[in-house]
Amino acid sequence: MHLHKHLALAALPATLHPALAQKVVDLAGDGWTVSSKALNISVPGKLPSQVHLDLFAGKAIGKFLYCLAPKTHVQTNPQSHRYHGLNDFNQRWICNNNWTYTSHPLHNLSTKAKSSWLVFNGLDTFTTIEVCGQIVGTTDNQFRQYTFDISGALKSCKGDPTLDLNFGSAPEIANAIASDPSSEKWPYGPQQIYEFPNRWYIRKEQSDFGWDWGPAFAPAGPWRDAYLVQFENEESIYVLNTDLDIFRKGQINHVAPDQTQPWVVNASIDFLGSLPKKPSMTIEIKDVESGKILKSGPLESISVSGGAISGSITIDADAPNLWWPTGLGKQNLYDATISVQDSKHHSLADVTKRTGFRTIFLNRLNITEDQLAQGIAPGANWHFEVNGQEFYAKGSNFIPPDAFWPRVTEEKMQRLFNAVVEGNQNMLRVWASGAYLPDFIYDIADEQGVLLWSEFQFSDALYPSDDKFLENVAAEVSYNVRRLNHHPSLALWAGGNELESLELPIVKGAAPDKYAFYVGEYEKLFISLILPLVYENSRSIPYMPSSTNNGFLYVNLSAPVPMAERYDNTTAGHYYSDTDHYNYDSSVAFDFGSYPVGRFANEFGYHSMPSLQSWQQAIDPEDLHFNSSTVVLRNHHYPPGTTDTHNLRNSSKGMGEMTMAVERYYPIPHKKDSVQQFSAWCHATQLFQADMYKSEIIFYRRGSGMPERQLGSLYWQLEDIWQAPTWAGIEYDGRWKVLHYVARDIYQPIIVSPFWNYTSGDLSVYVTSDLWETARGTVNFTWVDLTGKPIPGNAGTPQSRQFTVGGLNTTKVYEANTAKLSIPDKTDAVLVLSLIAHGRMPNSESVSTFVHREKVTTVFPNKLSLVDPKLELSHDSSSNTFTVEAKGGVSLYTWLDYPAGVVGYFDDNAFTLVPGEKKTVRFTVQKDETGGKWAQGVTVQSLWDQTTD
Ligand SMILES: *[C@@H]1O[C@H](CO)[C@@H](O)[C@H](O)[C@H]1NC(C)=O
Ligand SMILES: *[C@@H]1O[C@H](CO)[C@@H](O)[C@H](O)[C@H]1NC(C)=O
Ligand SMILES: *[C@@H]1O[C@H](CO)[C@@H](O)[C@H](O)[C@H]1NC(C)=O
Ligand SMILES: *[C@@H]1O[C@H](CO)[C@@H](O)[C@H](O)[C@H]1NC(C)=O
Ligand SMILES: *[C@@H]1O[C@H](CO)[C@@H](O)[C@H](O)[C@H]1NC(C)=O
Repeated sequence: MHLHKHLALAALPATLHPALAQKVVDLAGDGWTVSSKALNISVPGKLPSQVHLDLFAGKAIGKFLYCLAPKTHVQTNPQSHRYHGLNDFNQRWICNNNWTYTSHPLHNLSTKAKSSWLVFNGLDTFTTIEVCGQIVGTTDNQFRQYTFDISGALKSCKGDPTLDLNFGSAPEIANAIASDPSSEKWPYGPQQIYEFPNRWYIRKEQSDFGWDWGPAFAPAGPWRDAYLVQFENEESIYVLNTDLDIFRKGQINHVAPDQTQPWVVNASIDFLGSLPKKPSMTIEIKDVESGKILKSGPLESISVSGGAISGSITIDADAPNLWWPTGLGKQNLYDATISVQDSKHHSLADVTKRTGFRTIFLNRLNITEDQLAQGIAPGANWHFEVNGQEFYAKGSNFIPPDAFWPRVTEEKMQRLFNAVVEGNQNMLRVWASGAYLPDFIYDIADEQGVLLWSEFQFSDALYPSDDKFLENVAAEVSYNVRRLNHHPSLALWAGGNELESLELPIVKGAAPDKYAFYVGEYEKLFISLILPLVYENSRSIPYMPSSTNNGFLYVNLSAPVPMAERYDNTTAGHYYSDTDHYNYDSSVAFDFGSYPVGRFANEFGYHSMPSLQSWQQAIDPEDLHFNSSTVVLRNHHYPPGTTDTHNLRNSSKGMGEMTMAVERYYPIPHKKDSVQQFSAWCHATQLFQADMYKSEIIFYRRGSGMPERQLGSLYWQLEDIWQAPTWAGIEYDGRWKVLHYVARDIYQPIIVSPFWNYTSGDLSVYVTSDLWETARGTVNFTWVDLTGKPIPGNAGTPQSRQFTVGGLNTTKVYEANTAKLSIPDKTDAVLVLSLIAHGRMPNSESVSTFVHREKVTTVFPNKLSLVDPKLELSHDSSSNTFTVEAKGGVSLYTWLDYPAGVVGYFDDNAFTLVPGEKKTVRFTVQKDETGGKWAQGVTVQSLWDQTTD
């Protein structure tokens, strides 16, 4: 594990020519004070941090202790405390006030500086910056890097200088902008409000103002690192940002790259300070694993403009070892060290970026004649290609892992990405209304081979299009495109979320005469402004204006609107788009005829409750029941739509959806102990959620071999921002819900999946493979009753079928109508499907063996005549394995559970066990605070136990 978190920032003193001295003071660390004059509060602070976090850490403040630690519940763990109970409502006083971060006196500054600068890599959001009481600048964009010349202000200091960062209340400022008569207004309903209104006027994490899966804390503070840079010489530079762009010669973002072309490496460094005449640049590119130098020497075509120095070099087409996503090949990485030099080849600055060689292409081109001849339906493609290869994208949507970014640690993100890779996911969509991720998360994704479809931070609203707003966005876009471009995990830039597919149609319905105007505004921001900024800074990364779309008609880079989106210019029976699908009518949850047919599924899902263990981190014992107001109010689906703290009506609708789904399909929990009853209900909502996602994912994956040529499914959502009912598969502290286990199972390369039409009784069984080559194997079909006894004559189904399945394809292995099979009692029958296959993983020399199991029942689980499976659990502490055996009958949804205090996952979970089988699973420990005692708290249960005491 080798991360270069701060390399872009550190001008490495060792390589500097002594005459070119500069002093860099890292402003990170303790020694700051956070205060509010109006509230008469002052507590020790930190940088990077946010006000809520520092107020909590400084809990010495008596009269606010109530707000910080409500009731008598005193917790020692600050991680969980912030989210206690209804703090997101009760602590609104924090974001409704202004706060100042004051530095300690800076006593180690240079005495011979020719100029001095402040560099901020992230201020959240509205800041006035003072040096010794003198204002040196203001900020209004959380996502930009800011620099301020403080040379003059420093001269006015008496004694050691201090800095004040004054943060204004973001909700108040957004409201003030909204009430300005000159601000754009949208009377037609497209502006979706979760809690605080007016988020679209400000460039701050949009979900800070509430979302349907999270709290609205609207934090403020210096959320990323900051430096004071002093130059003691005229010709000296400090590196602010680096854009490293690696692409195939001639490559252009919207066309399939030619894999026979040499690689071009463009390096461009944004700097502070000034360059001497005739500067030069060199590069050294070194294989991280072998240490072998791939290329070393001067960069060519050096140019200096707009505070950046750039140059490029070419590398032979086949020289680098390619980077591949996980499951598709190795994650080969290279360290590229770029050095800026004066005319005498003295180094002025050095920067090292860890990178990789790959092409990534989002194919939105029209379907070709060749594709039609293969049986692909007409329309347009909508899928990704890596290094020229089509592949199936499997994954989920990434939301902010915490409402407070400064406490998102590298360790926590390592655990999360381990779960992603363990979960057979190769792509995450970094959704559009959190924050641009810090480099360390992209570094982890580079190492682990997880592609990050990345979005600009705009979502579920129309945005202003005045010049001031556009200028602000332009700086944000250039900075982040350049900062992240070197990461091989970066897969795509999308303008925003649900703009084309949701916001524009809302306007079209509400005000058809205004539609053309709003399309024009949308295109001004997301096509005319952002597209050229992406293309100027990156030849390697594709761009699309909004997350769900029907592709484009053409791209003409010299047209005022360079990409002509297709919008609804479509022909029936053709496929063009990715899909975004939610349906909270659970009566059709398992009707695969109700799922959208498209080329790629980028969002779909249903919410569920977190586990009892997660609830216990966040709420008081008396609130541990399904309809306690604390539990209900933490459900923000449906969002309150106002800052009203007690919109039980909207929250109750979401609770009702979960309840009805469980009642429709699963045994209703029936336990005497109220906490056990609560836990069983939480679990039941997770069973429904997991089954429903499975039903959709197998449908989308099967589409790889259907006319729609479906090549991706990313469900909503990977992880939780806090402990609450949400769509997540991984809870706030890293615990896997049933969903993450089931998704891992169904994202295996070769799966056997049943498609049961519960109306007609038709059952078809498919094998689907996302290998790139043909695989062969067998599926066994075994009908048993719930005691585990074979059903006579195997109910008329063959014992096994052999199959051949092509690369990225599907094949039907069985078809029957279950009404016509000889099943004596439908409530007492289970079909176990068991697959074994042989095939080669992509980019692998050897043949691998794949196994997969699935079950079919011909009634829903609540209609089954369950018998007690008499589960037995044993633990082998030397191998950390647990063995489960069903002694009494078929065990459905066999669920191993572990206590609080440990984070990790079992090899398999929520599986079916037939009497006579033993299943042994290991528990991988990611974090243990129990000193190993957790193992004694592992339990096992099945569907049978949901209704028993
Ligand atoms: C925050 O500061 C602004 C600008 O100085 C001021 O108008 C506003 O009243 C302040 N808000 C509070 C709650 O003190
Ligand atoms: C793609 O097909 C559309 C019709 O759906 C057509 O208008 C457009 O010109 C085609 N684009 C290209 C680049 O051929
Ligand atoms: C459909 O595309 C044509 C160009 O091919 C364009 O003139 C027309 O405005 C488009 N219609 C819509 C509804 O986007
Ligand atoms: C399931 O069967 C019903 C009744 O025959 C039919 O209307 C429906 O289209 C079928 N669903 C699918 C997805 O084939
Ligand atoms: C299928 O059943 C046969 C006969 O019992 C057995 O030998 C084989 O291992 C089974 N295959 C799978 C994939 O379960």
